[in-house]
Amino acid sequence: MADRLVSDVLTKPDAALEATLRPAAFAEFTGQAKTRERLEIGVEAARRRGESLDHVLLSGPPGLGKTTLANILAKAMGANLRATSGPTIEKAGDLAGLLTNLEEGDVLFIDEIHRLQKTIEEYLYPAMEDFKLDIIIDQGPNARSVRLNLPRFTLIGATTRAGLLSAPLLTRFGIRERLDYYPATQLQQIIQRAAGLMKVSLDEQGALEIARRSRGTPRIANNLLRRVRDYAEVRADGRITRDLADRALAILEIDQHGLDEMDKRILQAVITKFGGGPVGLNSLAVVVGEESDTLEEVYEPYLIMEGYLHRTPQGRVVTELAYRRLGLTHKGGGQSTLL
Ligand SMILES: Nc1ncnc2c1ncn2[C@@H]1O[C@H](COP(=O)(O)OP(=O)(O)OP(=O)(O)O)[C@@H](O)[C@H]1O
Ligand SMILES: [Mg+2]
Repeated sequence: MADRLVSDVLTKPDAALEATLRPAAFAEFTGQAKTRERLEIGVEAARRRGESLDHVLLSGPPGLGKTTLANILAKAMGANLRATSGPTIEKAGDLAGLLTNLEEGDVLFIDEIHRLQKTIEEYLYPAMEDFKLDIIIDQGPNARSVRLNLPRFTLIGATTRAGLLSAPLLTRFGIRERLDYYPATQLQQIIQRAAGLMKVSLDEQGALEIARRSRGTPRIANNLLRRVRDYAEVRADGRITRDLADRALAILEIDQHGLDEMDKRILQAVITKFGGGPVGLNSLAVVVGEESDTLEEVYEPYLIMEGYLHRTPQGRVVTELAYRRLGLTHKGGGQSTLL
C-alpha cells in the first residue's frame, strides 16, 4: 500500500483558495441538484412574500459545500450574513450579543452547530421560534428575567454530525438538507470551473483523473488541482492532461481511488478483524478508534456510495471490491453475501 492517503493537508480548508473558488450564486453551484432546487424555491417563495427565509440546517461531511450554500442563501435573500461557530459561543451573553445585533432579515450562520453547549442551545429555542430572547440581568436577589424582541432573522446551522443535534433544536429548522458526496463527473465540472478561475490549462480527461481521486469532495478536488498545477508548471509545459495528472498524483502518492487513511482502516478492520462482516457499528468504531456517529455520518456514506460497504440489518459488510482495493484475497467463500 504505497499510496499515500488523501491526507490532512488536502482535507484542511485553505482560506484564500476557498474564497476565490467558492461559488457565489446557485447557478455556479454544481451538483446536489435536489437540495439546490428546494433551497432556490424556498428563497424565491420567501422573497415573494417579503418574509425572511425559514431557518436552514445544512449537514454532511466536510468540504461538500455547506458554508458555500450558507453564503449563497444569504446573498440570494439580499441579506447580511453574520458568521460564528458553535465552540466560539462560550456564554449565553455571547449569543445574546450576536442576536441583539442582528437586523431585520439578517442571516446568522452558526458553523459546527453540534458543538453548541446545551445551556446556550436552550436560549436559541425561543429566539428561533418566536424571535424572543429571555435574558437574566443582575445577579443574586436582584436577578430578573427580561424578554427582548429580536428582529426576524434566519438561522443557518451547519454540521458534519446532524446525529448529535438534540430533537428540540433539529425540529426548529424548517428546512433541513443533507449534502452527499459528488460523483466524479460533477467533480470534473467543479475542477474545470476552478481551473478557469485559476487560469490553468486543463483538458477534460485531466479533470476527470483528478476528480476520480478526490474522494467525492470539492475541497479535495480544488486542493489536488492546485498541486497538479504546481507539477505541470515545474515538470512540464503547464498543461494538465490525463497523463500529466496521473504522473503528478503518483508523485504526490495520492490514492488511486480517492480513499483516505480512515477509509482504509475501516475496510481493513471489517476484513481482518470481523471476517468481512457483518459487524455492528459500535464494535467497528471501537476497533478503528473513531466515534460511531462520525463513522456513520462522515465515513460510511462515501464507502457505501463507492460500493465498498453495505449496511445490512445484521451490520456492516464489505464487498468484493473492498478486498480488491486493499489487495487482499477473499477467503470466506460467501461471495453471494458480498455483492
Ligand atoms: N457544489 C460546489 N460547486 C463548486 N465548488 C464547490 C461546491 N461545493 C464546494 N465547493 C468548493 O469547495 C470548497 C469547500 O466547500 P465548503 O467550505 O462550503 O465546505 P463545507 O461543507 O462548509 O466544509 P466544512 O464542513 O469543512 O466546513 C469551497 O470553497 C468551494 O470552492
Ligand atoms: Mg464550512
